[in-house]
Amino acid sequence: MNTSSQKVNKKIAVLAGDGIGPEVTEQAIKVLKAIAKVYGHQFSFHPALVGACAIDATGNPLPDATLDVCNECDAILFGAIGDPKYDNNPNAPVRPEQGLLKLRKSMGLFSNIRPVKAYDSLLDISPLKRENIEGADFVIYRELTGGIYFGEKKRSEDRQTASDLCSYSAFEIERITHQAFQAARLRRKKLTLVDKANVLESSRLWREVVKRIGEEYPDVALDFLFVDNAAMQIILNPKQFDVVLTENMFGDIISDEASVITGSLGLLPSASVGDKTGMFEPIHGSYPQAAGKDIANPTAAILSAAMLLDYLNLNDEANAVRNAVDSMLTQGIVTQDLNKEKNYSTSTVGDMIAATIAQKSKVVVRNVANIYLAGSTII
Ligand code: IPM
Ligand code: MN
Repeated sequence: MNTSSQKVNKKIAVLAGDGIGPEVTEQAIKVLKAIAKVYGHQFSFHPALVGACAIDATGNPLPDATLDVCNECDAILFGAIGDPKYDNNPNAPVRPEQGLLKLRKSMGLFSNIRPVKAYDSLLDISPLKRENIEGADFVIYRELTGGIYFGEKKRSEDRQTASDLCSYSAFEIERITHQAFQAARLRRKKLTLVDKANVLESSRLWREVVKRIGEEYPDVALDFLFVDNAAMQIILNPKQFDVVLTENMFGDIISDEASVITGSLGLLPSASVGDKTGMFEPIHGSYPQAAGKDIANPTAAILSAAMLLDYLNLNDEANAVRNAVDSMLTQGIVTQDLNKEKNYSTSTVGDMIAATIAQKSKVVVRNVANIYLAGSTII
């Protein structure tokens, strides 16, 4: 449904987090502000702490105050979390990642949607062969609140044995499976379940449930791949995929792998949705080496804002953001991860995308300097 002609007033929680999180999120906000102005909407932004910065300030990676803000808002914009001081110490009693995991669980964000697309203008920067990736366009539905991430963790008394339980209920599988089939219906009508049903009991339950639900969607072709084979197929022949459905940890791994198709982890957005709210975040991490340098790619964060607009049923607005991003990629207005020789800063790319939207310019920008000047007076 497209309600673009109606003006909306929405509250957006901003959890910018650590590393490059704040600077890429700032660009996404710029873009949302440009959308609000052009389409007559009102978005208010409500910052809150999460991750290492929240541990530094409060001792807790997800303070209750942050959960309160999230519960009061219509959607959540998330940056990134993580800090090297914790990565080097896996035994740290409190870790930034716990904030993100607890947030997903407490907000009931069980379905993580990660679109993967080969952009024509970037085919040659992917390490994969152009002919193999041209036209690749699929979406990963990753289950986000179950599996080994949340199963019981144990360590023996002598600390020499450890285990993490991978557990799923049919209910947890059913709810994301319906979403994935519905998405396939609106796309190329193919769904691939990625599992390890030749070894894991939890995977055998996934297969059973997905097969059963598949009968309700006879128009969608359903197939199955073991995760080891899927990892290979994603690189060899990504065009075979339309909707990929998988459990939590397999989805984590294959989505990083799939980013190689696009050419940069800095391009992949994601949406995490559940019953109550939606959270929108780039799939990349906090990239501490680049933090504060104004060099990180803001595209994934900006495309996550586009997914947020879709979630609010503002589809024209979401497409305006995607068109502006496409236009910048085509014209080479990109950060250094995409072009070593000629590149622009994080904030410039954000300004340019916002300016393109502000000018409602779906046409090719002939003079980059001009639009930037014009844009900077608008923003
Ligand atoms: C992701 C990240 C997280 C995950 C980490 C930061 C806990 O890698 O969102 O893909 O493993 O889910
Ligand atoms: Mn990951």
